Amino acid sequence: MCKKNSKYESFKFQNNQNVSINELIRTQVSRRDFLKGILVVPLGTLESSDTASRFAFFNSFSKADPLLDQSFVLGFQSVVGSKADKVSVPPGYESQVIIRWGDPLFSDVSLFNLDDQTPEAQSRQFGYNCDFIGYFPLPHHSIPNGHMGLLCVNHEYTMGTAMFPGYDSDNPTRVQVDTEISAHGMTVVEVRQDRKTKKWQYTIDSSFNRRITGETLMKITGPAAGHSLLQTSADPSGLQVRGMFNNCGGGKTPWGTILTCEENFNQYFANNDILDDLDPRKSIHNRYGIPRKSSRRKWERFHSRFDVSQEPNEPFRSGWVVEIDPYNPNSVPRKRTALGRIKHEAATVVVAPSGRIVVYSGDDEQFDYMYKFVSSNSLSPLNSDANRNLLDDGTLYVALFNDDGSGQWLPLIQGYGKLTAEHGFKTQGDILINTRGAADLLGATPMDRPEDIEVNPVNGKVYCVMTNNSERGDRGKPAVDGANPRSQNRYGHIIELTEDINDHAALWFTWKIFMLCGDPSNPDHKTFFQQCDPRVVSPISSPDNIVFDRRGNLWITTDGMKRELGINDGVFACSVIGADRGCVKQFLSAPIGSEVTGPELNSTNTTIFVSIQHPGGGDRLKRSSSTWPDGDFPKPSVVAVIKREGELDTIGA
Ligand code: FEO
Ligand code: CA
Ligand code: CA
Repeated sequence: MCKKNSKYESFKFQNNQNVSINELIRTQVSRRDFLKGILVVPLGTLESSDTASRFAFFNSFSKADPLLDQSFVLGFQSVVGSKADKVSVPPGYESQVIIRWGDPLFSDVSLFNLDDQTPEAQSRQFGYNCDFIGYFPLPHHSIPNGHMGLLCVNHEYTMGTAMFPGYDSDNPTRVQVDTEISAHGMTVVEVRQDRKTKKWQYTIDSSFNRRITGETLMKITGPAAGHSLLQTSADPSGLQVRGMFNNCGGGKTPWGTILTCEENFNQYFANNDILDDLDPRKSIHNRYGIPRKSSRRKWERFHSRFDVSQEPNEPFRSGWVVEIDPYNPNSVPRKRTALGRIKHEAATVVVAPSGRIVVYSGDDEQFDYMYKFVSSNSLSPLNSDANRNLLDDGTLYVALFNDDGSGQWLPLIQGYGKLTAEHGFKTQGDILINTRGAADLLGATPMDRPEDIEVNPVNGKVYCVMTNNSERGDRGKPAVDGANPRSQNRYGHIIELTEDINDHAALWFTWKIFMLCGDPSNPDHKTFFQQCDPRVVSPISSPDNIVFDRRGNLWITTDGMKRELGINDGVFACSVIGADRGCVKQFLSAPIGSEVTGPELNSTNTTIFVSIQHPGGGDRLKRSSSTWPDGDFPKPSVVAVIKREGELDTIGA
């Protein structure tokens, strides 16, 4: 049982109001809380007939299983923070690598050869720096299968120094550049678990296996499709684009597609300074951080599409949420412009009581914003085809957090407020392409790097991760505020947001601080872990990706433990209700130099999958601080963790 943490009595926020944390808790608890006990998704109202299995598929989507014990306690023994070059999990658990960088998806691909990498081979091998993972049960629309499915894995970015022996960052070769382009994107791969040994294996030559890369042709859809700013010499229509880049977070739709998010796309482009100062595109590119001169990657030397001085519109064709049907390897990915153009981190889908689709997304940059999209039309549970273009028509909102614990979703609609031709927004397409500029004009709340956002399937609340912001409160930067309450926020925090009457399409919300991360034993960190005894709380920093299990427990992966706490990144878990609310425990410690991304549970919650990204932290290949996972050179990999001992094989039990 947790004991009250006495240090909360004296802790003061470093904000203008000097509010004690006890005051904050009291005001937050007394605020209207009309949501108790209401489940988030109304799909249970769907009656099954001859399409029972399809209903089962829909009902499995973001809804708690009412038969599960909601008082379930996370019973695993905490892992102690580590500096070791390995994956550590609690006693009774076991981890295994399922697939790693360079593993072939098809039997006709030659074995990975570090000294002879080619774009052709890489486009049929598992790519680099795995991130978001989506588990899609097989067969499609079956009652969710926890032992056979597709893993859809983002490949966020590449690091030449860690990929190629003797890589010269000033003079990358054409083959190296093109191999890196092929190492981006996504892998779709079939995986199966042996029910006896509980081991997972990927299936070479599965008909579902697929690589999507920086060269894969995609359609541009939605209100901005065909816009003059999306037209280039290679695509005068503004309707078709080659590849996706820096796909970091993502989400899954109830109709069985994956949403994958282009995040830090700016780094691939170069030479914005060469544009005329009077060219309005130049200032938009600056707002998104397009390099003024050459890029660090130097891809523009070989491909004019990355050179803004030659193709000034090309950056407008990145920064989107891409929808992909993993069950159809021939499907054409679609960049959905209605969801706006930002550095998207996550695209978490939930169904509002009206049946409309809501997609939450953060813009991962210091002092950028949180967004949600609400579709105009409603989900059709009986007709998946009718849902195919739901994400092309709707309203995009940006969040305004008031210090009194209330908040508002501001619509990014042409003609609303200052979003007029006079301010550069003649059409809705203008707003969707320059979403940041539009949100600036509406006065949205600058946040501490919004990363993942997820909806809890038990209480319906929305959990929003601010990974960190070391410049909060600095001179010339936004000051602390209620929702971003620590200056120089090195450790990050999590906000718990409640939509009005639990309707995810609502225009109003309330919010609370759920967690202020750091080392609870260090008063200088000014942490907040609810009413938990600091002795049972694991130190945690820079929360990044999150996922909920079916009982509503929160699972967190981190990116920045080494920098701030001196130990490797990891996986953490906590309850969001009851006596253990917020009492976070470490579940996994990752290898040296890596961050942990993409936490995902299989349909039965008996396996948690995570991506181990950039082991070695980008060190030069031959002198890397990590040799994980095989003892030779570091390879970004997907890991599965299962429970080996105990009565229940549910993860965390
Ligand atoms: Fe790619 Fe925001 O992490
Ligand atoms: Ca991330
Ligand atoms: Ca997530």
